[in-house]
Amino acid sequence: MMSTTRRDFLSRTAMMAAGTVGVGAGETANRNGPADISLQYQPPKKPVIVTRETGDDTVAEAYAMLERGGDTLNAALHICQGREDDPNDHSVGLGGLPNEDGVVELDASVMHGPTRQAGAVGAVQNIRHAALLAETVMQRTAHVMIVGNGAEKFAVDEGFQRENLLTDDARKIWLLWKEHSNGWWGPGLDSPDWKPPAVGKPAQGPMARLMPRHPSEEQAPMVKDALRRLSEMADRMGIRPDLRREAALQVLWPTTGTIHVSALNTKGEMSGATTTSGLAWKIPGRLGDSPIIGAGCYTDQDIGSAGATGNGEENIKVAGAHTIVDQMRQGATPKEAGMEALRRIARNYNNDMTKLRYLDMIYYIVRRDGAYAGVSLWSTRGTGARKNFVVHDGTLRTEPCDYLYEGTTLSMHPF
Ligand code: GLY
Repeated sequence: MMSTTRRDFLSRTAMMAAGTVGVGAGETANRNGPADISLQYQPPKKPVIVTRETGDDTVAEAYAMLERGGDTLNAALHICQGREDDPNDHSVGLGGLPNEDGVVELDASVMHGPTRQAGAVGAVQNIRHAALLAETVMQRTAHVMIVGNGAEKFAVDEGFQRENLLTDDARKIWLLWKEHSNGWWGPGLDSPDWKPPAVGKPAQGPMARLMPRHPSEEQAPMVKDALRRLSEMADRMGIRPDLRREAALQVLWPTTGTIHVSALNTKGEMSGATTTSGLAWKIPGRLGDSPIIGAGCYTDQDIGSAGATGNGEENIKVAGAHTIVDQMRQGATPKEAGMEALRRIARNYNNDMTKLRYLDMIYYIVRRDGAYAGVSLWSTRGTGARKNFVVHDGTLRTEPCDYLYEGTTLSMHPF
């Protein structure tokens, strides 16, 4: 479903090119917009934060930091650290799901609008606060990105504590995955050689045991059956009842979970931060979109900030966060810009729903004037729960994402 009209966006873009909208007082426009682009969007009266649901108080605390005049990147990092410290959040930091060898590898990136600086780390082991480490790369080196052993050594040199990030629960989920799956080797979803699992036939070939995250009605019984079998396997392996459901879901639909935060203050300053343990069960050294400036995180002090959670490979291929900010530069609203990035992901698969059913993507977007959006490829999670995002602009609330495709309903997943 697409509720924005492309025609509105195109006509506004044409008006901008003609110099009839988005021009600050006394400014002249050229075909690229106002002569001084920073005048295109005036700062909001109140700070704005967009992110995902956190289940803690960090968004309210970060907002208070902004109200006290705190730095936008510090506010964003505060929210990231809350998730990185939570052992029950299996998508980031401590408790993140590991790579195929059972080792947690974290990725993160940050952009600081006021100084127009960026920092990133990738595939870093044993260091919990990956987003803070990305900021440290930004502040303490002449580099933008450091990965692997180098990132870990840099962290220790900078005073970060080394620790084992694999929790007992994450290890148990990994053991279930090892029993069941053959991992990410072989043709990916974008390969002409990729084949979907056949209904009623044993799974064959690489990736064949993964299930569509957003099954059609015809596929739903196959997914339910796979979840039931996995749950029974988890039971036989002694995985405790309250972890079984999550373990089964994480094996069938390996997490691409992440947290992105974009924060804007009343001076129009903004920053973005993204942190993740990346795709569960990944091949060691795999980097997704989160550490890639322009994919998982992008902030342009004059225009806006955006970031992503979802399948990193897909987001890298459309340079999602940069695409969105660039669309806003050309006059798109946050929602229009996000929808355009989602359409590019779908276009990479010729809009083939057989393949798109395996993918998830949410973009979190804020424009310099405080306009914001959360947009999602699908309306629901694989479980049928609605896809939401969190916004704080003086009032902290959860809002449903705008979306491209209608997802699976709850009734299809009584699991
Ligand atoms: N978006 C997280 C990842 O794919 O690594």
